[in-house]
Amino acid sequence: MSSQNPSQPPRQTQTKTFTILAIIIALLSTLFYFLDSRLDCFYILDPSDLHDLSLRAISSHGNDTRAVVGFIVGELSEKFPGGYVNLDEEWIFNNAGGAMGAMWIIHASITEYLIIFGSAVGTEGHSGRHTADDYFHILKGTQLAYTPGSYEPEVYPQGSVHHLQRGTVKQYKMEEACFALEYARGWIPPMLGFGYADTFTSTLDFPTLWRTTWVTGREMVGNLLRGKL
Ligand SMILES: *[C@@H]1O[C@H](CO)[C@@H](O)[C@H](O)[C@H]1NC(C)=O
Repeated sequence: MSSQNPSQPPRQTQTKTFTILAIIIALLSTLFYFLDSRLDCFYILDPSDLHDLSLRAISSHGNDTRAVVGFIVGELSEKFPGGYVNLDEEWIFNNAGGAMGAMWIIHASITEYLIIFGSAVGTEGHSGRHTADDYFHILKGTQLAYTPGSYEPEVYPQGSVHHLQRGTVKQYKMEEACFALEYARGWIPPMLGFGYADTFTSTLDFPTLWRTTWVTGREMVGNLLRGKL
């Protein structure tokens, strides 16, 4: 008489399954830590170059923000030929962390994104807690931000950079029209959840959700096919 329940797999098979699972998890975490420590190798853009480019664009075109953006995208597309830079001005609304604005996705890959983000009427919200460093180069207007414990706002005027470090959070506000060249580097796919959540809990604007998914997916897959992680 066997004590084994016939509907249960034999104990040996279970042990084997757990061993294989443990090996897979160990390999995946090793791969993750390996890639995470070498994220720098995958970046093509650089925060100080983007700041320099933003300042040159503002000094050439001042408050003609359309021309400022054109200057930036034009120079980047010359520097990175071959499809890394999206020249189609595909503006899409974005609701995230209670704030609302519009964006033009210039570059999106697994480890980087570059967008023009802002609002012509101002907005305010939660920055989100991200798996990437975020550099917000102000092209027009002023952004305010603060962290709990401070009584005074951080003020980011035209030409300045607001660096939100990976894993940190702030409340931010653009009191009036404000646009920025936003560059994020780190792990981009986990950030998409934050970018989507407000659609399900608030706006129910599914055409915008679909368009965001389509453009982001097209750029990420296109870059992967170019060998850009
Ligand atoms: C843009 O406009 C603001 C507000 O009128 C002004 O303070 C700023 O100096 C202008 N910037 C440039 C580069 O002309």
